[in-house]
Amino acid sequence: MKPKVFVSRNLPPEVKAYLEEHCDVSMWNQPQPITREQLLASLAEAEGLLTADRSINRELLDHAPKLKVVSNVSVGYNNFDLAAMKERGVMGTNTAGSLNDTVADLIVALMLDVARRISELDQYVKAGQWKRGDGPSFFGLDVHHKKLGIIGMGEIGEAVAHRGRFGFGMEILYYNRSRRPDAEANLEARYLPMDELLKEADFLVLMTPLTPETRHLIGAREFALMKPTAIFVNASRGATVDEATMVAALQNQQIYGAGLDVYEHEPIAADHPLLQLRNVVTLPHIGSATDQTRRKMAMVAAHNLVAALEGRTPPNLVKELRP
Ligand code: DGY
Repeated sequence: MKPKVFVSRNLPPEVKAYLEEHCDVSMWNQPQPITREQLLASLAEAEGLLTADRSINRELLDHAPKLKVVSNVSVGYNNFDLAAMKERGVMGTNTAGSLNDTVADLIVALMLDVARRISELDQYVKAGQWKRGDGPSFFGLDVHHKKLGIIGMGEIGEAVAHRGRFGFGMEILYYNRSRRPDAEANLEARYLPMDELLKEADFLVLMTPLTPETRHLIGAREFALMKPTAIFVNASRGATVDEATMVAALQNQQIYGAGLDVYEHEPIAADHPLLQLRNVVTLPHIGSATDQTRRKMAMVAAHNLVAALEGRTPPNLVKELRP
């Protein structure tokens, strides 16, 4: 008998077909997202769950007594209560490796957008405000040959650094929990302690995963260390930044601007002060959102799920849950 799995969001047809070869699949395929109650009610028989950002906590595990594996269609897995999953022997997987270039492309787009004020000036032109003689008021900042500071030199951070180094001739600075001699050699990247990095970089890209240690890693103190011309980009998780202090730093022009793909609460509220700021570009968490990459991620997640249910070690078992 095939193992029963529940899929909490619609999947591309080729991924669904692959899963159906190996599993007895129930899939949420309504246009509106599944509610928490509906999700909990769907798990009584499930041995596998394929999901994205749903909180996998004790409450959910209590509703899923047969669960063996949760496969996330994302690289981030801050939705996992790792202690609870470990305790219940439930495996957790992510899609590391399948989205690095796509997210790195978006980060570079945010850097360029804020520095050259692309979104802001696009609105200006479309509003019919462009007049001769406006020139100097359109000036932005250069990107090329500036100092790019990466906080969190994982695979995505490295892909951003690669673009900065070889696309824009930037000098690469980085801070990471452990030194990366390979990145230092390949990208001529310079390791700096966090405070030094914050003081020296022209562009600061935050790519650390959200963990208890990185929650509010960047706050008032860190913004105060940055240059007044610094551009801050966050495409990791919103809660790695103390958002209220970021708003203050941007309102007071303590830094030049920010490019954001993630927020402490998503979707961001329509009256959030960040949305009033001229020097901020806001995107709706689309780091990996291309058709090609999302299909790839879904297939990686399906492979992880099937591997676990067939008794193999899934390729992307998260490190905290490895035996
Ligand atoms: C991830 O995979 O964690 C991304 O945030 C999704 O866009």
